[in-house]
Amino acid sequence: MRIGGIDINNPILLAPMAGVTDYPFRILCKEMGAGIVYSEFVSADGIIRENAKTLDLIHFEDAERPIGVQIFGGDARVMSNAARYVVDSFKPDILDINYGCPVPKVTKKGAGSAALKDLCLMDDITSAVVESVSDIPVTVKMRAGWNDDSIIVPKVGERLEKIGVSAIALHPRTTKQRYTGKADWRYIKELKDACSIPIIGNGDIRNMDDMIRMFEYTGCDAVMVGRAAQGNPWFFQNAVAALNGEPEPTPPSLLDIAKTCKRHFELLLENRGERTGANLMRKHFSNYIKGFPGAAIFRQSLVTAPDLNAMNDALSAFMQAAENE
Ligand SMILES: Cc1cc2nc3c(=O)[nH]c(=O)nc-3n(C[C@H](O)[C@H](O)[C@H](O)COP(=O)(O)O)c2cc1C
Repeated sequence: MRIGGIDINNPILLAPMAGVTDYPFRILCKEMGAGIVYSEFVSADGIIRENAKTLDLIHFEDAERPIGVQIFGGDARVMSNAARYVVDSFKPDILDINYGCPVPKVTKKGAGSAALKDLCLMDDITSAVVESVSDIPVTVKMRAGWNDDSIIVPKVGERLEKIGVSAIALHPRTTKQRYTGKADWRYIKELKDACSIPIIGNGDIRNMDDMIRMFEYTGCDAVMVGRAAQGNPWFFQNAVAALNGEPEPTPPSLLDIAKTCKRHFELLLENRGERTGANLMRKHFSNYIKGFPGAAIFRQSLVTAPDLNAMNDALSAFMQAAENE
């Protein structure tokens, strides 16, 4: 698959997830075979103000390429300036626009999925961004509509394609649905039928069967996986094998999980500093450490560790137990 001029090795992409798809996690997923990884959504306002914490979210390494940086905002001029800033300063392979975030704090400002109920705004933002970063592909990640009475796919796909968007990722829930109910894959199929640009299917892929079913039912060019990859970068090696008809790889041992936790933690501390890194890692620990005997005890001690020293001690205890397995 190609997006713009970019070759994608595997059509299985890591979904952008705030607080999850940090640089260490993206590296791990990329090593396991993810075809594209994305930053979490980054505020266009924060980018143009050169807010240090905002810019930290964009940091990536060449080993992650091809990588997409996702931005959000409700003002076309700010979005186009932010897009230009990101491309000039960080040189990602893809610039992605967020039209999917359902959180009221974001949509109240006209950002995220607010554009689903104001297609003129969506046109303005998209055109401004496509024009300002014409040197790299611009993609869009969106939901199916604001609510059940205002579904905008597949029609909006033709509009976005005409404006110059290079691919669309669709999470076919509505804004009002948030994460309830089911993603309605019918909309992915309709969007694929209506567009010539690559369509990326997203929503409710929990295992290999779901992934194969989404490809077969919708005809999408790639799939994007979010929650099923949390604490499970191995998802991507299984997915690549399943897609190529190869035997399922050996599941990670407890020691593999412990070593992955340690590596993730070290990279996060290096990249985000001790305080932020340790705080961000709590969520990752609770994602990694589950589904084996005694997991709850290790998880509890890591997630509730009051400071970095206590966290390091708890991690050593987990590593020791894994080595003795
Ligand atoms: C914790 C979390 C954070 C998310 N953050 C973002 C984000 O920053 N940008 C975005 O476009 N979608 C975000 N999403 C939505 C996911 O990218 C994806 O569309 C959604 O989880 C459905 O896919 P899944 O069923 O494979 O999880 C987030 C989802 C979760 C669970």
